[in-house]
Amino acid sequence: MIRVRFTQQEIARRVRELGEEISKDYQGKTLTVVALLNGALPFAADLIRNISVPVYLDTFAASSYVDDSSCGKLNVRSSLKNSVEGKDVLLVDDILDTGFSLAATVEHFRKMNPSGIRTCVFLDKILRTPKPVKADYTGFPVENAYVVGYGLDSRELYRNLPFIGIMEKEEKENQIIDRSTKMIHVVAEMEIRKDCMKKILALVKELVPLVRAEKGCIQYEPNFAVDDEGHEKYFFFVETWESEEALKNHLASPHMAKWREDVKELRLTSRVKVLSPAGI
Ligand code: IMP
Ligand code: MG
Repeated sequence: MIRVRFTQQEIARRVRELGEEISKDYQGKTLTVVALLNGALPFAADLIRNISVPVYLDTFAASSYVDDSSCGKLNVRSSLKNSVEGKDVLLVDDILDTGFSLAATVEHFRKMNPSGIRTCVFLDKILRTPKPVKADYTGFPVENAYVVGYGLDSRELYRNLPFIGIMEKEEKENQIIDRSTKMIHVVAEMEIRKDCMKKILALVKELVPLVRAEKGCIQYEPNFAVDDEGHEKYFFFVETWESEEALKNHLASPHMAKWREDVKELRLTSRVKVLSPAGI
């Protein structure tokens, strides 16, 4: 199943902003945009039409691999049409995951003596491990899930989807769940102060990708519940953790410490229940 994560409209709006930012930064210059094949094709096509400075367009196909001596060697599958020597290069890719591909590609391009290299990725996966490269321009940060659409593939399919979705099935398959230990279900309930729901939502939006990226998090679903008059008054997290250990680490994480501090003023009560399956 594919769950929509960024709609076509959200993508278009963000690409427009990126184009404006890039145009401003390169005012008076000519930019060489290099789309990293195949994933960056739709994004690069949209991006260049939102850039107002003169643009040379090129493409580059390579993939990175890891051997014993170094991380992220480059397997180059195509050459550029035009030389980038003395040019201002903008490398465009679909997503920054571990960052090894982009780091290796930047190194490869440096050897061609451009006058400058910057990088632009549409998505940047939130990982707990540091990345060897930081993109100069980023569309959206995204939780550590498998995403498809808008150039991103799963076994070469789905690149043509006009939106970006999370591949629910792949995500679950890729996740190594140790079933020898018991999964833990948790429900956390908060009663929210009047007129504070908007603030809670903003905090939840920040928190959820970080929690979902934690090791051993199987589900972390935020929900509203209304009071008897139909007002949104309660907030629930429905959670599943791979093990007691995973839940313990979650509760001790720095983002949960920050969250507890942040919501103090916004909630009236809070209860956390660790469930024991009735085994029926
Ligand atoms: P990295 O070297 O780990 O940063 O990998 C980057 C490349 O892996 C991207 O250019 C994508 O082609 C691919 N990739 C990483 N994550 C995803 C994903 O969630 N969906 C589809 N492709 C991905
Ligand atoms: Mg790619």
